[in-house]
Amino acid sequence: MTGGDGHKRMGNIEASDFATSFHIPVLCKAVTEGLITKTGGVYVDTTLGGGGHSAVMLELLSPRGRVFGIDHDVEALDASCSRLVADMERGRFTPLRGNFEDIERLLEEAGEAQVDGLVADLGVSSHQIDAASRGFSYLAEGALDMRMDMRGGRSAHEVVNSWDRGMLKEVFSTFGEEPRSGRIARAIVEARPLESTTELAGVVRGVVPGREAVRTLSRVFQALRIVVNRELEVLERLLEASVRVVRPGGRMAVISYHSLEDRRVKRFFRNGNFEREPLRDVYGNPLVPWKERMRKPIQPDAEEVEANPRARSARLRIAERTDLAWPPDEDVQTIRR
Ligand SMILES: C[S@@+](CC[C@H](N)C(=O)[O-])C[C@H]1O[C@@H](n2cnc3c(N)ncnc32)[C@H](O)[C@@H]1O
Repeated sequence: MTGGDGHKRMGNIEASDFATSFHIPVLCKAVTEGLITKTGGVYVDTTLGGGGHSAVMLELLSPRGRVFGIDHDVEALDASCSRLVADMERGRFTPLRGNFEDIERLLEEAGEAQVDGLVADLGVSSHQIDAASRGFSYLAEGALDMRMDMRGGRSAHEVVNSWDRGMLKEVFSTFGEEPRSGRIARAIVEARPLESTTELAGVVRGVVPGREAVRTLSRVFQALRIVVNRELEVLERLLEASVRVVRPGGRMAVISYHSLEDRRVKRFFRNGNFEREPLRDVYGNPLVPWKERMRKPIQPDAEEVEANPRARSARLRIAERTDLAWPPDEDVQTIRR
């Protein structure tokens, strides 16, 4: 870390110091150590949640350092703004309401074009899961909603009650990697209308009884959540925008919680796209806007998982923006493999 203007040492970072009843931040030390290269720099927390990662960053940055926090959930923004009110008043923390797929517009409106780093801690917060009324959990009775941004868009109710059997099967198999997707889709269509999380869970338990049901329920609820919030699509848009938003030498840290997300992050950091080999110059050198800081993702250790079981499936990848113009200049001859 550069700067040296009285900032706190990384070694003191303990997740428990930054935990709130809203959310316990995951892999705090690894995120901030890997992300912050300038203590007086500008960073964006693209998934503000309870503000845990933002709070750690603000603690480590010098008084000149700044953090923008993006979330599309008003409850997350409210919780973080109360927590970070002193930094807001000092102009060190700025909340931005919106979807991180619109990061370029959100930053432009806030008067910022490029920044020194981005963190994305994907998925839902503990608060969202625990608030039964939000409909994310099969363990609590709630309306079938699952929208992180409650201002609009389709809810799980609409998907479950109006999508045809083929589309539901596709959702469970693609986004939940659920082996019994066809049977579950048929059972849902036969049981409609379904109003609550517990009614939906009952239908799934009818197809997969006993202990197996818990894993199936997780996959079915995950799949619905992904489709309701367009999670994979907006992640791809964020990664594409990151190349323009992060300055050369700046970093991006992404924590994923399932393989569909992690695969996209890995491919983008390695290849600069989601489905092909990287572009190459005429000498065969790969042209990639990011350089991975480590090949294997960082996972929480046993101690962190014991203290916070929701960290169990976390995978952190960090990359550094190269100085390659992106997309590559037209005069750099490229070949596709
Ligand atoms: C896992 S939580 C982040 C927790 C946060 N790192 C902390 O330490 O408190 C994910 C948060 O990101 C938000 N979020 C998820 N996808 C988003 C998106 N596409 N745009 C904006 N916010 C998003 C969710 O609403 C949720 O509050």
